Amino acid sequence: MSKVSMRVNGRATSGEIEGRTLLVEYLRDTLSLTGTHVGCDTSQCGACVVHVDGQAIKACTMFAAEAEGAEVTTIEGMANADGSLNTIQQAFQDHHGLQCGFCTPGMVMSAAALLKDNPRPSEHEVRQYLEGNICRCTGYHNIVKAILAASGQDVSAIAAE
Ligand code: FES
Ligand code: FES
Repeated sequence: MSKVSMRVNGRATSGEIEGRTLLVEYLRDTLSLTGTHVGCDTSQCGACVVHVDGQAIKACTMFAAEAEGAEVTTIEGMANADGSLNTIQQAFQDHHGLQCGFCTPGMVMSAAALLKDNPRPSEHEVRQYLEGNICRCTGYHNIVKAILAASGQDVSAIAAE
C-alpha cells in the first residue's frame, strides 16, 4: 500500500492505495464519490469520465497513483456554488438528454471538456466528440441537442425525439 494525495472537486484528499488501484476506484471506493460510474471493463463506455488537470480522462484507464498531486473534477463538483444545476446539467434536464442516467455523469463531463475547447460546436462536432461515450437508452439525439443548447445555440428547430 502507498499513499496518494490529490485535490478532488477543490478539496485536498489522500488515501492508502495499492499500485494497481485505478483512479475510478479511488474516487468511488476511497472517497465515496459514486457519481463517476463504471459501465465496462474495456475502456469503451465513457461512464467514468472525469477531468484531471482540466483534461477529460476515462478514470478507468488511469492508475490513482498517476493522479498524484493532480486537480480532479468529478460530476459531484459540477453544480453551481449554490447547489443548482450548471448550464450543461440544466440543458440535459430541459432537453431530456437522459433516461436511466447511467451514462449521464460521463456525458456531462465530456460535454464540459468539449465546450471548454470549442464553445460553439456544430452538431457533427458534438457527435464526433461523444464517440467515446456510450448511451444505451437515448439514441444520443437529445444528448446532442442538450449540449448544443448548453453552448447557447438555438435548438428550437431541432425536433425532439
Ligand atoms: S468504465 Fe471507463 S470507459 Fe467504461
Ligand atoms: S441514459 Fe441510460 S445509458 Fe444513457
